[in-house]
Amino acid sequence: MRTMSRTPAKTPEQSIAVVGSSPTSSDEAIRLHATGHSRFICDEPTPDRMCYVEPVVSPHAHARIRGIDATEARRVKGVVAVLTAHDIPGENQIGVKIKDEPLLPEDEACYIGQPTGLVVAATRAAAKRAAAAVRVDYEPLEPILTIADARRVDSLITAPIQVVCGDVESTLTRARHVLEGEIVTPLQEHVYFETQRVRVIPGEGREILLQAGTQSPSEVQQLVARVLGLSRKDVSIDVRRLGGAFGGKESAASLWCCLAALASRCTGRPIELCLSREQDMAWTGKRHPYSSDFRLGLDEDGKFLTWEVEYYQNGGSASDLSTAIMERTLFHATGSYFIPNVKVTGICCRTNLPPNTAFRGFGAPQAMFVMEAAIRRASRRTGIPVEELQRKNLLKKDDILPYGMAFSENTVRRSWMRAEELTSGISLRTSCQNGTGSHLRKGFSFMPVCFGISFTNTSLNQASALVHVYTDGSVGVSTGAVEMGQGVNTKIAQVAARAFGVGISRIKVESTNTTRAANTSPTAASSGADMNGNATRIACGEIKRRLLCFAGNHLRATGKTLEIEAETVTVNGKPTGLKWLELINLAYLSRVSLSCQAHYATPGIHFDKETERGVPFAYHVAGTAVTEVTVDTLRGTWKVDSVTVVHDGGESINPLIDRGQIEGGLLQGIGWVTMEDVGYDQGVPRSSLAVYKIPDIHSMPSVISIEFLPCLNSNAGVYNSKAVGEPPFMYGIGTYFALINALPPELRPEVHAAPLTCERLFGLVRRGGTAE
Ligand code: MOS
Repeated sequence: MRTMSRTPAKTPEQSIAVVGSSPTSSDEAIRLHATGHSRFICDEPTPDRMCYVEPVVSPHAHARIRGIDATEARRVKGVVAVLTAHDIPGENQIGVKIKDEPLLPEDEACYIGQPTGLVVAATRAAAKRAAAAVRVDYEPLEPILTIADARRVDSLITAPIQVVCGDVESTLTRARHVLEGEIVTPLQEHVYFETQRVRVIPGEGREILLQAGTQSPSEVQQLVARVLGLSRKDVSIDVRRLGGAFGGKESAASLWCCLAALASRCTGRPIELCLSREQDMAWTGKRHPYSSDFRLGLDEDGKFLTWEVEYYQNGGSASDLSTAIMERTLFHATGSYFIPNVKVTGICCRTNLPPNTAFRGFGAPQAMFVMEAAIRRASRRTGIPVEELQRKNLLKKDDILPYGMAFSENTVRRSWMRAEELTSGISLRTSCQNGTGSHLRKGFSFMPVCFGISFTNTSLNQASALVHVYTDGSVGVSTGAVEMGQGVNTKIAQVAARAFGVGISRIKVESTNTTRAANTSPTAASSGADMNGNATRIACGEIKRRLLCFAGNHLRATGKTLEIEAETVTVNGKPTGLKWLELINLAYLSRVSLSCQAHYATPGIHFDKETERGVPFAYHVAGTAVTEVTVDTLRGTWKVDSVTVVHDGGESINPLIDRGQIEGGLLQGIGWVTMEDVGYDQGVPRSSLAVYKIPDIHSMPSVISIEFLPCLNSNAGVYNSKAVGEPPFMYGIGTYFALINALPPELRPEVHAAPLTCERLFGLVRRGGTAE
């Protein structure tokens, strides 16, 4: 930063940035954030008379509630109210797609950590003390905890769902090789930095405002209105930013928001509800564990003929997003490969765990893990090397996916080929090292990823933006996108700056607020920047159209080509003397509207749930990761030496943000398959970061090199960029298979199950004794 004080010559864009920069413009917002000055919910000034809420939760995975006695709790000093299901003025229901989740249960607790009551008190300590003093009379019932339990008693959330194409039965009998097996993948805890939390501010009359930690402001608005018996216009949700979410606040935030809203409604006080890390880990849903039975049929050359899978998902006690997540599993069943005959079935099991929920990848990682595991089995059986099987079966342009959509690009194969080029000789290097007889063995894997972009629920693929240009030339943008650390606000500011032809310091991206952006879809499915960016582009474009129409008259240049470039109006490409600020002022004085609200609906997508056919995705994001690891076969420890990623990012709006998303997703994926082990014991989760290990700086691959695939398609997201949030998670799956690859063939497990923790790895290497 020191060199900056020498005031280097400014580029035109930088000089523009200085003019009229306001203290909360987009670049200033980044500075505040990076220096720790940006505010999160609990950093907001404490409102007068604010109370704290402490939930009273079920200690049983399954129990009948016989009665709740709050006499003692009400005597605790500072207690304002103790609330139960009977205090809910509206409908006691927070299920969205399926109404199977009460806000507070009336007679049956369905998981450990389920709130059965609420204490509202003047201090956090009093609330905690009183919550412990509430006596709930439970009659414990037999819980269903695992997929196996649920299968035994047929405990399902809905009827099984299925995607079928070709003829699985007859091709299975014709296949040269058929292999089958069961694959298990685990839960994953979101470990967002900021735990679930919300502030509620009562307004005048029926009004209520929530400063909420949610990815879905409109869904929280809908549910708060429902449980309080209000209409949505009386409920405002404001989300400035989240300290991470990863899907864990897509639907799972609603419960906490509704509880706090109930507390505020019943007491008339401002309310804060904030879970501790231990509470959050114990009480909230996670990535769905899956147990999947597969059959893969291949011809004699190793071409995949048939893919049949039953995916069993542990959904937890309420449907939440389980069926939507299963749908995405089915759409990603074949991973990055072409298979002509497919029958995949999704079975969502209802159990007595907290409702499992969205988590980066939304069911696709589970599907892709099964596919890759099956390929390792196929390689063992056929003697064809893993990479040869993968390469032979990669998706090509125009291949038809099982749900009837054509894969319209050649990005899977292009990224694979480029990744091979970048890591050429990796196989030879690995076998040389492993031939030395050292206890340090090398392994590698190729992990191709292909991920569909759009909500599988077609109606959610819409967004809106409200743009105001102020008379000082600054611009405020409101959209439905929630900033959760993924950089969507920066991208939206860049879109607005580009659409107007002005510097980014003119632009402020406002909080996400249901009063300014109504009926919004969750910021999820990797589509936040695509959809809200496009709505912003359209709104800015409309204001610019009005401005240029005005400028044409003002400059007597009607019929010529007008543009705004670098904050100057140009006519037929030539700059005029009319600058942005003057243009805005003149337009205002001539009563031109400087505000616009615009809507965007992703074009060209449709899906028929009856025939299981359609075009559910706007496009696909593809890429390939090559992972190289070293395993210490004496100790069972390992490190990732390098990950080489070739990623299809379209024409990136912000390559730095995209790189951050790729690195973060990769590491989160590595954590899922190698170390994160929640472990439920009789429904009680391990709920502390002392025993739940997530990747840290030491787990980072020594080298991550990321290359973007040159973009050939011109029909993707906003300004032809591509979504980036979820796909890179699945690059991390490659680390599991690289670790397996590092083991001597006789020690590789027949059955694949994640996570491959150090303990499990140690168990595998110990079977073979020690290397010399
Ligand atoms: Mo995301 S897992 O679609 O919130």
